[in-house]
Amino acid sequence: MTRFWKGKLTENDVTPEAIYLNRRQIMAGAAGLGLGAIAGPALAAPSDLTPASYEGITHYNNYYEFGTGKEDPARYAHTLVTSPWSIQIGGMVDKPGTYALEDVLKGKQIEERIYRLRCVEGWSMVIPWNGFQLSALLDSVGVQSGAKYVAFQTAERPDQMPGLSRRVLDWPYREGLRLDEAMNPLTLLATGIYGKDLLNQNGAPIRLVVPWKYGFKSIKSIVRITLQEEEPFTSWKDQNYREYGFYSNVNPKVSHPRWSQATERVLGTNRLIAPRRDTEMFNGYGEEVASLYAGMDLGKNY
Ligand code: MTE
Repeated sequence: MTRFWKGKLTENDVTPEAIYLNRRQIMAGAAGLGLGAIAGPALAAPSDLTPASYEGITHYNNYYEFGTGKEDPARYAHTLVTSPWSIQIGGMVDKPGTYALEDVLKGKQIEERIYRLRCVEGWSMVIPWNGFQLSALLDSVGVQSGAKYVAFQTAERPDQMPGLSRRVLDWPYREGLRLDEAMNPLTLLATGIYGKDLLNQNGAPIRLVVPWKYGFKSIKSIVRITLQEEEPFTSWKDQNYREYGFYSNVNPKVSHPRWSQATERVLGTNRLIAPRRDTEMFNGYGEEVASLYAGMDLGKNY
């Protein structure tokens, strides 16, 4: 079963704010160009993808540039200036350059994708993202043959990001995907949640969402995208390569060295009474992505 869906929500699926917001057609830039649109019918919503509350999604975050506590991003991230915003796109592309966010969004049809985000720490949250496929952006800048990976980088602004004063990671926060992972239709550049622009704590104005990988791959507030031949530097692998691999596919059978990944707590709003469930291979998205790893030992390539 496909574990994402797009289209209309029903009253049984979500909170009232989402029912209201999803009546809106959310479009960015010039309509009709069709970049980023997915062909095919809207899919039925699996019953276990009930989104967490907006309050929960925006007040229990990981964004270490604003502190390592879960409440720190909601408290401190307002200092990040997200407009104007631009993204430097470079490396092995036909049209490198510094693109204003408006130009990045031009022609992209923003759609809703309800994804489960599984954090490496053992909790998950179902989030109704608004965004477009990363592949649409990569296609528009022209990926050159020979490019094998995509590197991403978050803004690094010590004056606006108090957490940078602690070297818990080698800043700026950096992540990467193999090119085929980046081009997979599930891989999203998100600009909103519940039909509203992203709040800073969730990675405004634009962040990655890779639903079959642990949440730390979903890098926030992106300022640089580079197409390259070598596997990119990633901040978490650099911090502890035994605990955080380059692939970091959600996998109940591969334990984190300090804890099992076999189950997870599903956060809605109240994490004290959040139910537990079995972690699913590829976070439930195996049908769409398992073929990317055919023949690979996922115990070694964790
Ligand atoms: N991106 C940056 N730049 N800095 C971070 O600390 N944390 C990651 C990821 N992206 C992080 C980041 C982790 S560990 C998770 S689980 C998700 O963001 C959390 O996303 P959310 O707060 O929007 O739920």
